[in-house]
Amino acid sequence: MSAETASTDKPRALVRLDGVGKNYGNIIALRDVSLEVAPGEVTCVLGDNGAGKSTLIKIVAGLHRHDEGTYEVEGKPVSFASPREALDHGIATVYQDLAVVPLMPVWRNFFLGSEKRRAFGLMDIEFMRSTTKNELLAMGIDLRDVDQPIGTLSGGERQCVAIARAVYFGAKVLILDEPTAALGVKQAGTVLRYIVQARERGLGVIFITHNPHHAYPVGDRFLVLKRGRGIAYRSKGELTRDELTTLMSGGAELEELAHELESITSKEP
Ligand SMILES: Nc1ncnc2c1ncn2[C@@H]1O[C@H](COP(=O)(O)OP(=O)(O)O)[C@@H](O)[C@H]1O
Ligand SMILES: [Mg+2]
Repeated sequence: MSAETASTDKPRALVRLDGVGKNYGNIIALRDVSLEVAPGEVTCVLGDNGAGKSTLIKIVAGLHRHDEGTYEVEGKPVSFASPREALDHGIATVYQDLAVVPLMPVWRNFFLGSEKRRAFGLMDIEFMRSTTKNELLAMGIDLRDVDQPIGTLSGGERQCVAIARAVYFGAKVLILDEPTAALGVKQAGTVLRYIVQARERGLGVIFITHNPHHAYPVGDRFLVLKRGRGIAYRSKGELTRDELTTLMSGGAELEELAHELESITSKEP
């Protein structure tokens, strides 16, 4: 633990959004959304299609700028112009459609864009192969052969390589956009285990999913979005698995209705 965080009980938030909003022309994609991601914590963002999940993480990842509210990284307000800038602040994103070159070996994909070179610009292949092997092993992935094309790995394994890569290149915050959506039960389980591992290494994780059964076991905090608004933001102690499931299935509509009725009745004289 660094001296900075050791002096306080609660680790400083890596990411903090406060009242963040985003429009696409006339469409309100996100309104008044707040969340906080601390080191060693997994924040799950849930919601149906069109709820605003991707918009939210695109703001955090530097792909879009927010129109309203504040976005802070380690206590400082930011407004990133690009994902590169976000990455320089330790914020790494693993997208649903992984940017991999299927025919290239696993180790080439691991170092893609950040190749290790020796004198005269020659690639240090041995270093990259052994590092890839060891980093994957450290996350419990025992690949027989890091020379095999990454396209031969399962979807779950590819997600795990992407996670290990982000960790190796110094990510503090890992954003995962629906990493388990296209996977079967067993493979989803593998990815969920690596999410827990990333947390144990002290990363802050933002895990986007529409599946409460994937979110609940690994999450520390839960943000449920509905039509661009946060309809629930709770820590695990304040939420049961059943409540989360209900929020995700129509129950969300009831909660929203209750909210609306409350604000209408409170306005009446
Ligand atoms: N580039 C865009 N241009 C216009 N509207 C968009 C764009 N991206 C998303 N939207 C709209 O914003 C809302 C939230 O979308 P999105 O963040 O993709 O939701 P989710 O990821 O939860 O499915 C939706 O109504 C969607 O149609
Ligand atoms: Mg999406």
